[in-house]
Order: sequence, then structure tokens, then C-alpha cells
Amino acid sequence: MIKLKPYFLYFLVLPAISSCVSGQLGKNNSGEFRNGMVVTAHPEASKVGLEILKKGGNAVDAAVAVQFALAVVYPNAGNIGGGGFMVYRSKDGEIASLDFREKAPRKASRDMYLDASGNPIEDKSLYGHLAAGVPGSVAGMVEAHQKYGKLKWAEVVQPAINLARNGFAITERQARELTGYQKEFSKYNPGKQYFIKSSYAAGENVVQEDLAKTLELIRDNGRAGFYEGPVAEFIASEMVSGGGLISKEDLKNYRAIWRTPVSGTYKGYKVITMPPPSSGGIALLQLLKMVEPYPLKRWGFNQDSSVQVMVEAERRVYADRASYLGDPDFYTVPQAQLLKTEYSLSRMRDLNWNRATLSSEVKAGEFGYAESDQTTHFSIVDRDGNAVAITTTLNGSYGSKVFVKGAGFLLNNEMDDFSVKPGAPNMYGLVGGEANAIAPNKRMLSCMTPTIVEKDGNLFMVVGTPGGSTIITSVFQTIVNVIDFDKSMQSAVNAKKFHHQWLPDEVRYEKGGLDSLVKVKLQQKGYKLVEGGNIGRVDAILKTKWGYQGGADPRGDDVAVGW
Ligand code: GLY
Repeated sequence: MIKLKPYFLYFLVLPAISSCVSGQLGKNNSGEFRNGMVVTAHPEASKVGLEILKKGGNAVDAAVAVQFALAVVYPNAGNIGGGGFMVYRSKDGEIASLDFREKAPRKASRDMYLDASGNPIEDKSLYGHLAAGVPGSVAGMVEAHQKYGKLKWAEVVQPAINLARNGFAITERQARELTGYQKEFSKYNPGKQYFIKSSYAAGENVVQEDLAKTLELIRDNGRAGFYEGPVAEFIASEMVSGGGLISKEDLKNYRAIWRTPVSGTYKGYKVITMPPPSSGGIALLQLLKMVEPYPLKRWGFNQDSSVQVMVEAERRVYADRASYLGDPDFYTVPQAQLLKTEYSLSRMRDLNWNRATLSSEVKAGEFGYAESDQTTHFSIVDRDGNAVAITTTLNGSYGSKVFVKGAGFLLNNEMDDFSVKPGAPNMYGLVGGEANAIAPNKRMLSCMTPTIVEKDGNLFMVVGTPGGSTIITSVFQTIVNVIDFDKSMQSAVNAKKFHHQWLPDEVRYEKGGLDSLVKVKLQQKGYKLVEGGNIGRVDAILKTKWGYQGGADPRGDDVAVGW
């Protein structure tokens, strides 16, 4: 049995310090901005995004600059050694989604993490070189920029180079985290210098010279600067020295893929989100459809009936996810069936108001627990109204913990997002089967849910979050908080969340998220309630009649900036 330890990391209670920083222009009294907005997990990355917007870049230029900046200033999730997904909506309503998810190396095999008796070997898919999939982020940024960027490529990469070369001041939270990971960094990087020192202090300036050189190669050579030449050599040597599988051929062959976004409606709003190989978009649309007939607004925010109906929807959707979702290039995902309104409504017909459904009574319909908060999401809208939602990750905090010697960046441990063995839970407790089994060159299933919502054909919201399997429920609840519970963007983000993912059969909720009476009522019906720390770290933007309103999650160091 794989241990579930890392799951509980997502529920650590962290101090709340988010902020909304204004640029000089266009701010009105209600804290809304007319010319654009950037919301990211790190103050320096938000600043970079805003500067790009102010110098005439569009939302995609700013997104590319933010992605590279996060790879420098937010190394536990920002990355060039990982992957992610982008959902885009132009000012004219053109929509697109880009898959730059990592993929299994060509030498990967179905049972590569199992022992001779066919049982998962603890930690093998989680730590070290063998846990890494072929990175997709650089290819994704090149693709996005070539298609939609306006500024020169060098202009959008340069801010990250400056941050790496001149350094940046780490936050108090980062000092704590970096100090806490020293044992693992030393274990997986023998004799290597990156980020290895006895302790870190808040405000300390961190310089990353090798990473600056890597970013310069990317600036000067585009995708070849990463997937070929010295950086590819560094990755390949790292693999040889640590027993990993990624080859130079794997790197050269990696491609980001434009996919058709999935979309659906909820109470008159149009929701545009990420298709497979993320499960997030389909699951989000199913959840919204399942709860649409119920009077959530009348019942009220986090009241027993609203929580019950949302939990029962979550239970059923995660059961479907475990059976049906995987890389569509390798497995026929029954997308059309899963997205049929009638199907979602039929899944709720056995809801019993008098007692909790048992997960053992719920199977995937007829016809895995939390992703770490070490994924990261950012939302951007430019002055013309073009919008970008990007969620990107190394998977666990600092990924595989392996730094590429010479190149100065961390590799992901995304291979753990495959179903290592049918029915065996991954680090988030998520289970899967054939659809998400390991195969060479296949993309592992994700929960990432970058999403854009329209109202009456116009941009309404840009939203997404880290948080493993809780990504889907956090995005779901943030949208419902705005549409049904009339919350502002910031209070929808701040609002306490809860989560059910079919297995284990329990409702996780944030400390203080459910009042005593609600808890008693749910417990009397048989719900197992487990209080924990944070769920999600949502960064979102809402368009109002005044301008753009930011929601930067107080669960992290996240910052919304606008002008
Ligand atoms: N690494 C977690 C996810 O992609 O969902």
C-alpha cells in the first residue's frame, strides 16, 4: 500500500498574507483596475507580469514572462523542468488550450515502479531521477508565444534572467520551506550546490547563476535552447548519473499540443476549461452540471444542504475520473458521454437526503487525494481583454528534488501522476486504472483546471489553483461562490473550502469552514468529516462593470496587481 503522507501536507495551516497592489493608472475606489491584471503566487512574478503589460505586451506575453519568472522565484512549483496547461480567450472570444504536460520517457514501462510481487515500491515514483517525466514548460511557452505573443521572445524571457542573475528576496514562507527541505535536497543531489545550505532567512537575496545561463540559452535559441545543446546534455548526464530514463531523443521529440478546450454552461454562464490529459476540465463541468438544479443560493454558503449536494457530486465525479480519464492520445476518453447533461443529472438520482451515500456504493458511471499545493496557477488579463489561465507544476514540492547539475533547475516527479498499479493510490490518494497506466511517451493524468468563464458572450472570470485532487473542487467552489453566493472575487478565494474525492470516503474541510450545527447535521447523516489545513490556493480575476477585480489567495504569498 502506498502511504498517503504527502496528502496531509496540503492541509498545513499557513498564515494568511495576500495583497492587492495597484499600479498607477485606472484604479477606481473599489480596488478594480481597468487596464489589466496579473495574479500569481509570488510578488516578484506578479510584478514582472504587470511590467510586461505596461510596456505593451499582451496577456500571453505576460504569461510567458510570469512562467519563467516563477521558475526563478518560486522553485517549489514554478518551473522549466515541469509542465502545465494553458487556457486562452482572446478579446474577441477566440478560445484555445495548450497542453504542455510532461510525458513518460520512451524507456518507461507499465510496471516500472513495482517490485517482483507486483506491489508499488514506496517512493520510487516520487523521488529522484526515475520520478521525472520529460519536461514540457519551455515547449509550451514557445508555442504560446509564437501563436499569440506580441513582444519579442527575448523581451519576455529577460526579466527571469535578471531575477536569476541579480537575485530576489525570498519570503518568510520560502525561507521556512527551503530550510525544511535541506535533507531531501542533499540526499538527491550529492555534492551539488543548488539551494543546499544550513538555513535560509526571510529577505535573503538568492542568486541562481546556472539558471540564468540556462534561461539565456532559451532566450537566444527558443525551444532548442532547452531541448537540444548544452541544457539537453546536462539533463541527459543527470539521468545517467542518477539512474533516470529521460534521453536526448525524448527531449528533442517533446511537443506541446494545442487541444480543443472543453466547455459547458452553468446557470447561463459559459465555462471554458482544460480537456484531457487533465481530468480537471471534464470533472469541473460535470460537477457544475450535477449541482445546477439545486437552489444553492437559497440554502446558503457552506450550509448543510449545499455541502451535502456538492459532496455527493464530488464523490461521483471522482469515481468517474478514476475509471475513464487518461491521455486521449493513448486511451479513448468517453468525453462526449461524460459531458452529457443527462448523464450528469442521472448520476445524482440516487442521492439520499437522509444519509450519506457510501463510496462503496458508487462506481464509475455506466457506459485519485490532493495534488500538492506545489503546483501553481496564475491568471492574467490585458488591457484589450485577452485572458490567460495557466496552471503549471513540478508535482510535489520541489518535484523530484533533483537539480540538473550545470543547468540549475529542478526536475518534476510527475510520473507519480500515472496509475502505478490499478487501484493503488498515488501520493494524493487518487486511484486509477487502465486509462492512466504508464506507457512510453504517454502523458500522465492531471487535475489541473485552468478555466475561463464567460457571461453573455463576454469575459467574466479567469480562475485556477494548485492543490492536487483538490484543484477541481477548489475551482468548482470558487465559481459557485461568485455565481451562487454573490461573493466578490477576493472573498470567493478566501472562503473556506471542503473536499470529497470518492476515496477515501471522507469530507475534508478547512479549519473553521463548517459551523458546529452544519457539522452535526452532516455527521448525523453519516458523513465522516475531517478538519485539516488549507485547500487550494486560488488566483483569479473577475470582470465587473468597473474593471478587473483580483482574488489573490491568502493561503500563500500570492499577489494581485493591476493598473
Ligand atoms: N501533478 C498533479 C496534477 O497534475 O494534477
